[in-house]
Amino acid sequence: MPTSFTSFLNHLLISFFLFFLTSSNSSDTLTGTQILTTNQTLLSQNQTFVLGFFGGSNTNYYLGIWYNNINPQTIVWVANRDNPIDNSTGYLKIGDNGNFVLLNSSGNPAWSSNQTNAKNPVIQLLETGNLVLKDSEQSINYLWQSFDYPTDTLLPGMQMGWNFDTGIEKHLTSWKVTGEDPSSGDYTFKLDYRGLPEIFLRRNQTIIYRSGSWNGERFNGVPEMDTDTDSIVFSFSDDAHGVFYYFSIGNASLLSRLTVTSDSDGELQRRTWIASSETWNKFWYAPADQCDHYRECGPYGLCDNNASPVCRCMKGFSPKNPQAWNLRDGSGGCVRNTDLDCPTDKFLHLESMKLPETTTVFVNKSMTLTECESLCHRNCSCTAYANIDITNGGSGCVMWLGQLFDLRNYPSGGGQDLYVRLSAADIGSAGSKHRKAEAIGISLSVVAIVLGLVAICYLRKKKQHRGSIHRSHDLLMNEGVPSRGHSGDRNMDDLELPMFDFDTLTMATNNFSQDNKLGQGGFGSVYRGSLIESQEIAVKRLSKDSGQGIEEFKNEVKLIVKLQHRNLVRLLGCCIEKDEKMLVYEYMENRSLDSILFDKVKRSLLDWKSRFNIICGIARGLLYLHQDSRFRIIHRDLKASNILLDSEMNPKISDFGMARIFGSNQTEANTIRVVGTYGYMSPEYAMDGNFSVKSDVFSFGVLVLEIITGKKNRGFYYANDELNLLGNVWRQWNEGTALELVDQSIGNSYAESEVLRCIHVGLLCVQERAEDRPTMSSVVLMLSSEAALMPRPKNPGFSLRKNHPETDSSSSNQDKTWSVNQVTVTMLNAR
Ligand SMILES: *[C@@H]1O[C@H](CO)[C@@H](O)[C@H](O)[C@H]1NC(C)=O
Ligand SMILES: *[C@@H]1O[C@H](CO)[C@@H](O)[C@H](O)[C@H]1NC(C)=O
Ligand SMILES: *[C@@H]1O[C@H](CO)[C@@H](O)[C@H](O)[C@H]1NC(C)=O
Ligand SMILES: *[C@@H]1O[C@H](CO)[C@@H](O)[C@H](O)[C@H]1NC(C)=O
Ligand SMILES: *[C@@H]1O[C@H](CO)[C@@H](O)[C@H](O)[C@H]1NC(C)=O
Ligand SMILES: *[C@@H]1O[C@H](CO)[C@@H](O)[C@H](O)[C@H]1NC(C)=O
Ligand SMILES: *[C@@H]1O[C@H](CO)[C@@H](O)[C@H](O)[C@H]1NC(C)=O
Ligand SMILES: *[C@@H]1O[C@H](CO)[C@@H](O)[C@H](O)[C@H]1NC(C)=O
Ligand SMILES: *[C@@H]1O[C@H](CO)[C@@H](O)[C@H](O)[C@H]1NC(C)=O
Repeated sequence: MPTSFTSFLNHLLISFFLFFLTSSNSSDTLTGTQILTTNQTLLSQNQTFVLGFFGGSNTNYYLGIWYNNINPQTIVWVANRDNPIDNSTGYLKIGDNGNFVLLNSSGNPAWSSNQTNAKNPVIQLLETGNLVLKDSEQSINYLWQSFDYPTDTLLPGMQMGWNFDTGIEKHLTSWKVTGEDPSSGDYTFKLDYRGLPEIFLRRNQTIIYRSGSWNGERFNGVPEMDTDTDSIVFSFSDDAHGVFYYFSIGNASLLSRLTVTSDSDGELQRRTWIASSETWNKFWYAPADQCDHYRECGPYGLCDNNASPVCRCMKGFSPKNPQAWNLRDGSGGCVRNTDLDCPTDKFLHLESMKLPETTTVFVNKSMTLTECESLCHRNCSCTAYANIDITNGGSGCVMWLGQLFDLRNYPSGGGQDLYVRLSAADIGSAGSKHRKAEAIGISLSVVAIVLGLVAICYLRKKKQHRGSIHRSHDLLMNEGVPSRGHSGDRNMDDLELPMFDFDTLTMATNNFSQDNKLGQGGFGSVYRGSLIESQEIAVKRLSKDSGQGIEEFKNEVKLIVKLQHRNLVRLLGCCIEKDEKMLVYEYMENRSLDSILFDKVKRSLLDWKSRFNIICGIARGLLYLHQDSRFRIIHRDLKASNILLDSEMNPKISDFGMARIFGSNQTEANTIRVVGTYGYMSPEYAMDGNFSVKSDVFSFGVLVLEIITGKKNRGFYYANDELNLLGNVWRQWNEGTALELVDQSIGNSYAESEVLRCIHVGLLCVQERAEDRPTMSSVVLMLSSEAALMPRPKNPGFSLRKNHPETDSSSSNQDKTWSVNQVTVTMLNAR
């Protein structure tokens, strides 16, 4: 049959059906004589969900289910995600086989449910968001249901996992592009029933996160799950008929869903609808921190997100590759100090643990812990054991038979007890096998503190000798004396610095040619280069008069090398040769933030999404600097030109700690000269030279407001305050017109609530009193969660007036250095 004829017939058919179709638009059922065209919908009985067609990119059309009356449209299920129809005239109907089919305009099926034997089939959209096919309108027996074919969203009452009776397996698969392209994406969340069941988040085939096994109350890798159990009830079922996870909602007026997204390179999100602010609050997400990253610390490594670095070896183990470990790459894991000797081995008791991966374990649900221990003790290949269920005092036995992977410790509670086989020699002189996990931590830290004190004293002595030793020594020593039991001195010498030779860098930068020069400042110049392996680098050649000794330079570099975070620019190595000192960094394609943000043309490259991403990235990088170092690294010169952007506009903080390198007279406790950049400097720092993490928070706040408005904070007071960014934002915020400040080159495609939240955070950060400003950890929380409580901002810190005319903000530290008596201070008039 010619196609044109077929489609003619189809049109005829549609017209025929339309004739019978009265006002079925608001109905929740579709019978065998009806069709649903692209401009019609089914509405569930109490109007919670809608079934209808929606447009994706191009002219692609999809049949899907979304929440009624919720803006933005939130799609929870898609029928033909990988086989879109043309938008012109597709329709849904009940087919001859008792199935239902989605036809495109030429009458070819784009998607269909499977055949059923229904004689009088009807389709109904239930109040739960489940689309079901039944034999008759009254039947409660579903021949087919959309809940069996989830897309990216788990709704209340929907199960994910395995049904061994029907052979149906249900998992979540992300959209290709969040909010745009519903076709199957790269991220999946799928239950593995082998061993003790767990759910894995994967990027393609690679596991990126693991839930932990179900312990009777929750997944043991999700301690947050037992909060607020009244409103959301989590359930898990594991028997001969199947293994699945689901959740339900106590109060039907609460809307909550679990989604796997491609955000942040793969993220699970539980979102909850906040009716008052009309937003989907991010209630929970994973992976949430470094320790959530699958196998972050390798075999036998323990991850503790509150420690620095996050990885440590459990008692009786040492890093397999100490060098990589010192550089904060824990993935090599740990090895035993003493080999096992089966009959005499003991068990180490660890508390508050995310249990190791349980895909290949021995499981017996009816055994007690005592039986479990004796079985594990007898079986020489058993490396650890634990209870399966922690409710009612604990029950069941899980036994590991090989290496232990992906362990983490929850110091603030959550997790459960784990008993790890250890040689009697390693268990300790006390020999008590029920020693607490904390005791190990404490003894290690005592060793570390003692060693650290010895090292500091040693250095202090040296300092007196040599007159002036850099403060970063202390910092480094304490960083460098790890809780892993190395001697501090040995550790320092062992730590190999990636060294480049002068000739290599000369060649890479084309003999430091003018063409390769990226910028210049008081510290020296930066050149672009490429190594033979075609790796692109940025070389910072320090000027010879930077006044820094070789030892101090080396130490500073060692410190920076250890800082590894995706929002900090990575130092690849250094070069000390022929009076030259150079730092080699990874090269950033998009240079610095100021070169784009304040450029009339390039600024439009930064839409709201990337600006928000930049704000969050800087926040995370700064949080890492502030918190992940025992002695708190304060950047002191955070500004747009020190934020570098990679090819995907991901921000990386650079120049951290530089202020300490240059001019050691500035780093003494009695700081007489203030290093930093006006406009970004907090009042207490500019005035008294007092710096703290809160002065960085101030600079961060200024950056946030600059990123939103695209305007520089000039940092000194003008009578009309037009040019004073902080004053302007503060005024418009109070007048309720803050959105007018948004950089016009962003266009209109931004979520107002998100922008307002960022402005709010920015204003909180620039408050005058340091103690009013939030810490970076609350900043990160406020940025990531719509539900975070935010206090009302108080008036921002004053701005500085500089006596001499402003020079433009080149990246020179020395240009930006002036003594306090050159600065006059003016209180900002808020209105
Ligand atoms: C719809 O709402 C009514 C009244 O609140 C309630 O009685 C009924 O059970 C609801 N129906 C469904 C399917 O939830
Ligand atoms: C299909 O979509 C395209 C692009 O959005 C639009 O131009 C066209 O008018 C649409 N056709 C129909 C029949 O809606
Ligand atoms: C819905 O689409 C059909 C063709 O697909 C068209 O005939 C009808 O007029 C449309 N109805 C409305 C209300 O747009
Ligand atoms: C309908 O689907 C068939 C088979 O997938 C395809 O060959 C045809 O081009 C489609 N027609 C339209 C108008 O999209
Ligand atoms: C139809 O059944 C097959 C085999 O059971 C299954 O793989 C497929 O997903 C089903 N499709 C739908 C839409 O139900
Ligand atoms: C997943 O695999 C596909 C096909 O091999 C590839 O194109 C894609 O980049 C991969 N995605 C990620 C996030 O690695
Ligand atoms: C359900 O939640 C709504 C809104 O939060 C509240 O008004 C109502 O009282 C709650 N109902 C029950 C039974 O808790
Ligand atoms: C589990 O342990 C109990 C008690 O020791 C025992 O009776 C039972 O046979 C064991 N089951 C399996 C499958 O090993
Ligand atoms: C240890 O237990 C495992 C699991 O039950 C079993 O396969 C293995 O044979 C046992 N090994 C020994 C030495 O008993």
